[in-house]
Amino acid sequence: MAVDLLLGLQWGDEGKGKIVDVLTKNYDIIARFQGGPNAGHTLEFDGIKHVLHTIPSGIFHKNAVNIVGNGVVIDPVIFKKELDALGKFNIDFHSKLLISRKAHLILPTHRLLDAASEAAKGKAKIGSTLKGIGPTYMDKTGRNGMRIGDLELDGWKEKYRALADKHEAMIAFYNVDIEYDLKELETEFLNAVETLRKLQFIDSEDYLFQAQSKGKKILAEGAQGSLLDIDFGTYPYVTSSNTTAAGACTGLGVAPNKIGDVKGIFKAYTTRVGSGPFPTELFDQDGETMGRVGNEFGATTGRPRRCGWLDLVALKYAVRINGVTELMMMKADVLSGFKKIKVCTAYNYKGKEIQHLPYNIETENVTPIYSEMEGWEKDLTQMEKADQLPKTLHAYIEFLEQELQVPIKIVSVGPDRTQTIHR
Ligand code: IMP
Repeated sequence: MAVDLLLGLQWGDEGKGKIVDVLTKNYDIIARFQGGPNAGHTLEFDGIKHVLHTIPSGIFHKNAVNIVGNGVVIDPVIFKKELDALGKFNIDFHSKLLISRKAHLILPTHRLLDAASEAAKGKAKIGSTLKGIGPTYMDKTGRNGMRIGDLELDGWKEKYRALADKHEAMIAFYNVDIEYDLKELETEFLNAVETLRKLQFIDSEDYLFQAQSKGKKILAEGAQGSLLDIDFGTYPYVTSSNTTAAGACTGLGVAPNKIGDVKGIFKAYTTRVGSGPFPTELFDQDGETMGRVGNEFGATTGRPRRCGWLDLVALKYAVRINGVTELMMMKADVLSGFKKIKVCTAYNYKGKEIQHLPYNIETENVTPIYSEMEGWEKDLTQMEKADQLPKTLHAYIEFLEQELQVPIKIVSVGPDRTQTIHR
């Protein structure tokens, strides 16, 4: 049985949490494969909004097993808070939430290092969520990290101490002004580790192999977005993992020839949180309207998201890198009321028209070239069927399908599970 993927195609916040939640009924296993609590996956149903950071978005469904894969980095403190917040839902975490022994641990000092590194960068800062993601992946690739499986071995506290001491020396090296009380942070960390240890730790690559052999249906849930990929994103303004399709193979131990559908999610417009190039960013009333109507504030940090028109140059790139087989367009309802809808179909780069993201893409270097389409006035949020959607929205969807050469299977018209139109 193949493993299907669900990936964000822009700069994150496309609405993966909602779609995983909608799709979970078709799957036996939902697995996260990269990133950490820098993610904020928002789900809404029965009038309640839930934000998950590390726990996969299938957790609310009775029959799905949720796996946190080896490619994920886990902060026990945030993980414990997520578990506590889910306490009232009577979820059997022991059988429904399994963690890879090979996933790396975010230590309190990783978070402090993130803060020190960003402070030292000054104006060139990445705009990190400051959850310790970069420093934890640095320790992973530097072969110094601590893994979940270490918590089952003797001597893990000594290993923790040695690494935390080294981090403290590194923090001092940055010579920036950050205040912290490591004793307090450590008490919180060690307490949260005990909660984590009550869950099942597994060899997830093995578990997933067995599950595939038994015909179980598996969905790998991405975090962040393709343009934040460490290799293919707008480096250095990216996150520290491979957010694209290949990351699911390394982040779960699934062979490339076992990948099935690749479901790509994008918003009907574009947003970005944090620093870095964003060619179609708007600084006018239209951008302000998108942000306000779309409630564009980071689910993890609360920061306002930058907003702009859909960038087809970037989207085509993401579709290609990921091998997307079907698309899902989110937040179509947010564009209701715009008289004209713009789509960027090429860039003007140093006086030349180009169709790709240049190596040194800087907003100042690149001017978007737009196609303009008719907007729609109607409120979409109560619509349930594709044939209810306005003609001009159909035209927008068909234009995108033509450009991207991939069908758009879902159009989302609101945050709730029920506001999902299948085509
Ligand atoms: P970090 O991964 O927290 O260090 O953040 C690096 C960059 O990725 C920053 O610009 C963040 O704003 C952005 N980022 C990280 N996680 C997310 C996410 O889940 N959604 C959107 N942006 C994110």
